[in-house]
Amino acid sequence: MAPLRVVIPRVGGPDVLRVEPFEPAPPGPGEVAVEVHAAGVNFADLFCRLGLYAAAPPRPFVPGFEVAGEVVAMGPGVAAPRAGERVIGVTRFGGCATRVTLPAAWTRPLPDGWSFAEGAAFPVAFLTAWYGLVHQGRLARGETAVIHSAAGGVGSAACQLARHAGARTIGTVGSEGKRAAALAAGADEVVVSPRYAVWPEVDRLTGGRGVDLILDAVGGRGLAEGFRRLRPMGRLVVYGFADLMPQGGIRNWPALAWRRWRTPRFDPLEMTGTNRAVIGFNLVYLFDRAEPLAAGFDALLAQARAGALRPVVGARVPFERAADAHRLLQSRASTGKVVLVREPGPRATIAP
Ligand SMILES: NC(=O)c1ccc[n+]([C@@H]2O[C@H](COP(=O)([O-])OP(=O)(O)OC[C@H]3O[C@@H](n4cnc5c(N)ncnc54)[C@H](OP(=O)(O)O)[C@@H]3O)[C@@H](O)[C@H]2O)c1
Repeated sequence: MAPLRVVIPRVGGPDVLRVEPFEPAPPGPGEVAVEVHAAGVNFADLFCRLGLYAAAPPRPFVPGFEVAGEVVAMGPGVAAPRAGERVIGVTRFGGCATRVTLPAAWTRPLPDGWSFAEGAAFPVAFLTAWYGLVHQGRLARGETAVIHSAAGGVGSAACQLARHAGARTIGTVGSEGKRAAALAAGADEVVVSPRYAVWPEVDRLTGGRGVDLILDAVGGRGLAEGFRRLRPMGRLVVYGFADLMPQGGIRNWPALAWRRWRTPRFDPLEMTGTNRAVIGFNLVYLFDRAEPLAAGFDALLAQARAGALRPVVGARVPFERAADAHRLLQSRASTGKVVLVREPGPRATIAP
């Protein structure tokens, strides 16, 4: 059977996604071809579909940043991984397909005992959480961190990493049904609020002493409220803007402009005078800078192999129903990672 790919042909709701067979090209120099058994779905895929992701390639294109599967062919110059090895891999777009060609350097062995779905759920969530909390945020033992959307893909990874760092974690979630997932991921306390009115409760939990780090991919006015709660040397780490997701999933420029306009601006004088920092990042723009991400990937996998970290797969959706995966992630109801999976079937191979 020909491999399948999920294509974004035009801007729109989940129904615009096209799942189609395609003829894969053999891997080029330094690349491997992977028969993909599972691919992670990310919030960025939704923004791509809505035409709101600046880094996206021109349409039509295949979204997707992470896969797990078996190597079926090696391009010229590739010594490892070898055909037949089970790997997880990072792609810069193109990952939502059952056959993917990617740089060998961006693959790692699938940890023993992990399902392909767990493998596909690992790279983006853990690399993002690690980059924000550890590499940029320098979260230290005894510090207090607020992690927004703590039951989600990145959030559940961040709760695990924060616990591992010996920090106290206050997770926030948008609905009561997610409380248990955030606690299971490692949050010490959870604050529930659909509109991110979390700060009075955080004040109560901290006795008004403030927090050392905030990991925020929601954006909006809550950024300013959080900044005010930072202790001296505190860090507000901003890495996404879920708040910009259009209501009902339909792009609406006036509503977007309004939300963009109300996004707080931070004053360097105030930051200097209060010893508080605002840090922003988007890993999609760091793909070509192998370090430090490659080192982070290795360190995270070492922790995972030692049993300290494990991705949380919240939903497995067949590739053919990619639109349902988008609906679920956009619904705000998902916990853990949403992963596309394939039904088991004969493995196609291409000659090296
Ligand atoms: N900068 C980077 O390099 C990078 C990399 C990966 C991900 N991200 C960002 O990290 C965030 C989490 O990504 P993820 O893939 O792990 O998703 P996720 O957290 O599993 O799911 C998204 C969550 O965002 C929250 N949310 C807030 N407003 C929302 C809205 N209007 N519509 C839908 N959800 C809304 C919801 O959680 P609650 O209601 O519980 O808060 C929802 O469950 C996203 O903002 C994404 O863009 C950034």
